[in-house]
Amino acid sequence: MSSIDSLLHEDRRFPPSPEFAADAVAKSDLYGQASADRLGFWADRARELLHWHTPFTQTLDWSAPPVARWFADGELNVAYNCLDRHVADGHGDRVAYHWEGEPGDTRTLTYAELTAEVKRAANVLAGLGIRAGDRVAIYLPMIPEAIVAMLAVARLGAVHSVVFGGFSADSLRTRIDDAEAKLVITADGGYRKGKVFPLKPTVDESLADGRSTVEHVLVVRRGGNEVAWTEGRDLWWHDTVATASDEHEAEAFPAENPLFILYTSGTTGKPKGILHTSGGYLTHVAYTHRNVFDLHPERDVYWSTADVGWVTGHSYVVYGPLANGATSVIYEGTPDTPHPGRWWELVQKYGVTILYAAPTAIRTFMKIGRQEPQKWDLSSLRLLGSVGEPINPEAWVWYRDIIGGGTTPIVDTWWQTETGGIMISALPGITTLKPGSAQVPLPGVSVEVLGEDGQPVGNGQGGLLVVTEPWPGMLRGIWRDEQRFRETYWERFADAPDGPLYFAGDGARRDADGDIWLLGRVDDVMNVSGHRLSTAEIESALVSHPWVAESAVVGARDETTGQAVVAFVIVKASQAEVATASEAAEVLRAHVSQQIGAIARPRQIFVVTELPKTRSGKIMRRLLRDVAEGRELGDTTTLTDAGVMQVITDRLR
Ligand code: WT7
Repeated sequence: MSSIDSLLHEDRRFPPSPEFAADAVAKSDLYGQASADRLGFWADRARELLHWHTPFTQTLDWSAPPVARWFADGELNVAYNCLDRHVADGHGDRVAYHWEGEPGDTRTLTYAELTAEVKRAANVLAGLGIRAGDRVAIYLPMIPEAIVAMLAVARLGAVHSVVFGGFSADSLRTRIDDAEAKLVITADGGYRKGKVFPLKPTVDESLADGRSTVEHVLVVRRGGNEVAWTEGRDLWWHDTVATASDEHEAEAFPAENPLFILYTSGTTGKPKGILHTSGGYLTHVAYTHRNVFDLHPERDVYWSTADVGWVTGHSYVVYGPLANGATSVIYEGTPDTPHPGRWWELVQKYGVTILYAAPTAIRTFMKIGRQEPQKWDLSSLRLLGSVGEPINPEAWVWYRDIIGGGTTPIVDTWWQTETGGIMISALPGITTLKPGSAQVPLPGVSVEVLGEDGQPVGNGQGGLLVVTEPWPGMLRGIWRDEQRFRETYWERFADAPDGPLYFAGDGARRDADGDIWLLGRVDDVMNVSGHRLSTAEIESALVSHPWVAESAVVGARDETTGQAVVAFVIVKASQAEVATASEAAEVLRAHVSQQIGAIARPRQIFVVTELPKTRSGKIMRRLLRDVAEGRELGDTTTLTDAGVMQVITDRLR
């Protein structure tokens, strides 16, 4: 049975327990309030959840779509909202983060300690000339300094661009150049799978030509690995931040002051710098974090397993939890180091009550088997979350039974780097849960599933997911590329009667109740382990290798990672004699990893003599996906040369 067919037959239902509902943060009248007065609802959330140095008088300015301005005449300081005000409210001794390093070293940071550390870092950054609006690149492992660095940048009204530590020197440099970063904050190295992986050497490599905009590199000592030093440019964190003053007054900035740029893959080879601003974003992530995760800050221990290099790390490791005064767990390493039960050991150790993870991780644990989690006491868990890709009903039910003791609600949260925060999700204590479906838009969020003709589809039908009204956490643009912003998200449904609609790039289906089931991307974007990768970006990495004449990349279904990168390459005739197909495939897999980062390394590379193309020269990815997923070939009638697919499949046998 295909996956969509099996989804259609999924009819398990899990109503909220009365005990959970009685104590739930979210009350069902949120839906009514939001539909009665959507903007008023958001304004109430902004006032309720944040501290405004200058209160706003206007909620939304949508006079020039697709550029939205939320709470625009209000002023706030994002770091103050995440830190100082909690200390002022008497919560200075509450733990903000329980940090666990991969080797087992630990650090606990209370709100008072974190506030002091951020103030010291802000003083150092200010001393290095960082001012409001300047861009700072952050390339760090999952250590507390990553969070301190983000907040110190935010405190100064500057803009951070966090680059995931797994990205290559080239990828880092592209992002530094695009944002014109003045400062890079990195570490000597970090721990991963029991070893130190170098970071500072990668930064050095990316800046080697001496022609970037970077003036300074601030280096945290973590890995203890040897690093080269550029006098005048490089500074140690422990020589500067540790000794700086912890007095620093947070200045208020306009609500639309940029907060961060986060690069994500699109349909072309060039990553998009997604721009988020301050007041609307913080309102959205605080509201969703509190209601979707049923956060009781005074007693919950919350753990989102994401790295700060991804948007989940921004919204639901840093800004949402801190704005709400939550206590979080953060972990540096991989789930299987030094043993396959590491996550469950940490749940027991810290008494985690709320766990937020990706389906890929759940499926990996399923494969390992229930004996690992069953070695640990997971009874503290009372709510589970899922993010990044569709979660198949089997994994959902396993997650609830084996990790959640058969009782915890699971919130399957749909959102994107661009949306800033969660858009579609059940509300625990209110919604009757359906495994495999993200279900309903949150109060305040308006979505629709449209057919190709732009008309809403009926129940039981599929189409394209759109957001029909602006929302506070929405992206404000693509960094310095307004045209791409308009084309990518707003052109597909530009002529809707009430203004342009945001097109998310996902396919979705409404079931008989009108609930939403996500069906994956409809563009040339892949989703591998919940991380977004572009086919074009990997194709261009492949053709940058001297052996490669042509390449085509597809995302093929993968039992564990959701999708996997599968590449088809034509090797130049001159090389075909030198290396065998399998040698070439190995070299090229390593090349992609070195060019982009290990996450982009293809699962398989097939060396072929031709690629299937339409008469207009477009590669027929659909057919390649059929091959990669081992299916019977679909319709080949539009191929220029129907023999091509025969050649390819023969070679794969
Ligand atoms: C894409 C966004 C959201 C933070 C992590 C990924 C897919 C995300 C779900 C979900 C089905 C999901 C979509 C979306 N996606 N969450 N709960 N169910 N699909 O952020 O890298 O910006 O990727 O991830 O395809 O468009 P991202």
